[in-house]
Order: sequence, then structure tokens, then C-alpha cells
Amino acid sequence: MSAAREHVELIEVGPRDGLQNEKRIVSVDDKVRFVELLVSAGFREIEVTSFVSPKWVPQLADAEEVLARIPRADGVVYSALVPNEKGLERALACGVRKVSVFTAASEGFTRKNINATIAESIERFKPVVARAHEAGAVVRGYVSCVVACPYDGPIAPDAVRETCARLAEIGVDELDLGDTIGVAHPDEIARVIEACARVRPAGELVIHLHDTFGRAIACAERALALGIRKFDGSTGGIGGCPYAPGASGNVATEKLEALCAARGYETRIDRAALTGAARFISSVLAAPAAEA
Ligand code: HMG
Ligand code: MG
Repeated sequence: MSAAREHVELIEVGPRDGLQNEKRIVSVDDKVRFVELLVSAGFREIEVTSFVSPKWVPQLADAEEVLARIPRADGVVYSALVPNEKGLERALACGVRKVSVFTAASEGFTRKNINATIAESIERFKPVVARAHEAGAVVRGYVSCVVACPYDGPIAPDAVRETCARLAEIGVDELDLGDTIGVAHPDEIARVIEACARVRPAGELVIHLHDTFGRAIACAERALALGIRKFDGSTGGIGGCPYAPGASGNVATEKLEALCAARGYETRIDRAALTGAARFISSVLAAPAAEA
């Protein structure tokens, strides 16, 4: 009998990161259908939306309605971004059991993205983490701009480790390292992982790659070799951050799945169903705009 293959967890962020930058508002029906197709493809964790200010991200202003309409499947975590206590209360009211706070390793991006310094963001998150835990929710902490910032330029791995350490100190359960603008080379990702593995073991860190220059899969491959076993992806490679000029979509989850399969890891993702979900969301986004 052959040995069991090691597992890599692919976390789908397309409904949130993939859609948040779309100018044209995608209907609630299409968002719900996208999530249903992702569940059928086998994802155990899907980041479905954000409870941020609707003025800052109009595309996700329908977070309550989307969550109310998604049928919940056993064993699937439906997570959401929350920038502050107000966002957390909205998420908890919708039954969300995993929330993500988000800051960065660069001051410029943090200011543009959440209107705070890094230190202010950590202070803001303290009551969010405490209240989320009290309610039985798990908290992910994103650190953006782990290699470079669109405003501040190159970022030192030690700055990333420092933000990770602050998030760990306030009790964040899971650390997620984001190459927000998709510029990383594999050596740079390796240095960031080595620095952050001093805060949490590599096997517990999540890597979140954007694919602006087509190097995301090479970075993921290096991350796998360094013990990373959790990756975010966006089905269809859709998306980008409205506060990161020049950044393109997340690495396509299909490419991550193919990489893992080729390297002998199992992901429990059904490739044909994943391709179907990618086709669905790509056709929604490519459809001509309705007449005004
Ligand atoms: P602010 O303007 O400083 O907030 O924004 P404020 O506290 O002064 O409030 C201003 C108004 O927003 C008030 O309403 C609040 O009630 C409202 P008004 O009195 O003017 O009518 N407000 C809210 N409404 C609903 N839900 C809330 C909420 N909070 C305040 N939670 C704030 C600060 C953090 C709210 C804002 O900057 C924001 O929402 N930013 C989110 C930006 C965002 O979503 N960016 C994309 C996600 S991050 C990302 O993509 C990177 C990632 O993928 C990883 C990577 O790639 O690296 C995660
Ligand atoms: Mg992102």
C-alpha cells in the first residue's frame, strides 16, 4: 500500500479578495452561487466577504445578505474580514465563526488601507480579538506588503516579523503573510518565511500571494519546500486590492492545486469542480454590463 500523501490546505479567498476590486457590483445571486460551487469543489475554508466600510469597498456592502443566503455545509468555515469592532459585531450577528483582522508591515499601506498606523491598528484589534474569542470565533491576522509596499517600497523581513509578533501577542490565532502587490521572488519569500517562523512554525503560517509578475507559483513552490502547508488562492485568479495600485489578482487556486498535485501533496479539491467554479466566476465578470 502506498503511503498517505501529506495534506496542503488551500483556502479560497476569491469571493472576498477576488471580487472586492471589481467596479461593477456582482449580484448577490452570483456571489452565493460562486460560494456554492466552491463548496462543491471541496474547500473547507472560504473567505466569503468583508464587514468593512461600504464607502471604502462598495462591492462588499451586501455582506449581510450574502451570508444570510449561503447554505452552510458541515465542516466548511465561512470566514470574513473585519477591520474594527463594528465589523466584528456585524460578522458575529451573521453567524461568522472565523474573522480576519488585517494590517501590514508598511506604514504607507496601512494608512491608505485602514486609515491607521500599524501601532494604531494593533490597538484597534485588541478588543476585536478578545471579543471574537469570547464569542467562540477564531481570528486570522493578515500582514500585507511582506516584500514590498506600493507606497513605501521594499520591506525588510524583520519588519514583517515584528508585525507578526505584535499580532501574536494580542492573541491572533493564525498569521497570514500577504505579497499584496505580487512582486515577490522566491528568495524574498523564503527570507520572510524564515523570519516569521521565529514567531510561529512555518507549518502554521499561511501564504497569500498575488500574481502580478507571474512568479507566485515559483514562490509557492519555495514556500512548500520550507514547510508551508496553507495557501490562499482565488479561483480564476481574479481580484486585487483597491488600495494597492498596480496589484493584480491572487494566484489562481487552480494553479496552486496543480502545483500541489505535481509535488505529491493532496488537497481534497476536485479539479473538475474547481475548473467549473473558475469558468462560472470568469463568465460573470466578463459579461457585458447591463444597460443603465
Ligand atoms: P475610517 O473612515 O477611518 O473609519 O475608516 P471611521 O471609524 O472614522 O468611520 C467612518 C465611517 O465608516 C462611519 O460612518 C462608520 O460608522 C463607518 P459614517 O458615520 O461616516 O456614516 N464604519 C463602518 N461601516 C460598516 N462596517 C464597518 C465600519 N467601520 C466604520 N466595519 C475603516 C476605517 C477601517 C473602517 C476603513 O478604512 C475600511 O473599511 N477599510 C477597509 C479597506 C479594505 O477592505 N481593503 C481591502 C482588504 S485588505 C487586502 O485586500 C489585503 C489582503 O488581501 C492581504 C494581502 O493581499 O496582502 C487581506
Ligand atoms: Mg490580497
